[in-house]
Amino acid sequence: MTQDQQKQAAARAAIDFIEDGWVVGVGTGSTANYFIDALAEIKQRIDGAVASSEASAARLKAHGIRVFELTAVGEMPIYVDGADEINGQWQMIKGGGAALTREKIVAQCCKQFVCIADASKQVRVLGQFPLPVEVIPMARSLVGRELVKLGGHPAWREGVVTDNGNWILDVHGLTIAEPIKLETAINQIPGVVTNGLFALRPANVLLLGTPDGVVRSNN
Ligand code: A5P
Repeated sequence: MTQDQQKQAAARAAIDFIEDGWVVGVGTGSTANYFIDALAEIKQRIDGAVASSEASAARLKAHGIRVFELTAVGEMPIYVDGADEINGQWQMIKGGGAALTREKIVAQCCKQFVCIADASKQVRVLGQFPLPVEVIPMARSLVGRELVKLGGHPAWREGVVTDNGNWILDVHGLTIAEPIKLETAINQIPGVVTNGLFALRPANVLLLGTPDGVVRSNN
């Protein structure tokens, strides 16, 4: 299977987790897009979805899937999303598509996080993929200097504005041995909205698309 086929297979496998009448938390990115397309095939069975980005909301609506505001629903049973990297503890780096903050918010409202990914996303130690950090625009330089103190090399993702009207710094050169510690430390910097480490709240299930098929593991 190609990388795209692996993403699609992992996304389709997540459909088995969806039960009748559910409101589904939906992630962002190319793998999440495959999930949305698969969800459309069972849209009659579900109540609707909560999206983690404007892009995912638009795709869900285009398929005729009802999209709820997060404030209109309580706790949801499931969140399905991709990852840029995932380690053996199911901790992730996310935010390659700049949707990290809403992804973290929606994921936090869901009982179970099902990560769908192709095999290239599985790593032993997080950090090869530059860690995205969403910042309030006026704090960009301050946050950048603080990230250097934490051992990183931040680069401004120029031209990208998040759905929340903020900017993204991508932090290169990190070997993230203690993901929970780093996630917490970065979130303490004034001006940081959130960072792309999902360590405090890792995935519960990983559906990994591999050249030989989808491998399922539970945390
Ligand atoms: C979006 O901001 C990200 O967190 C995505 O979930 C992540 O980048 C994975 O994207 P792909 O599914 O496109 O690889």
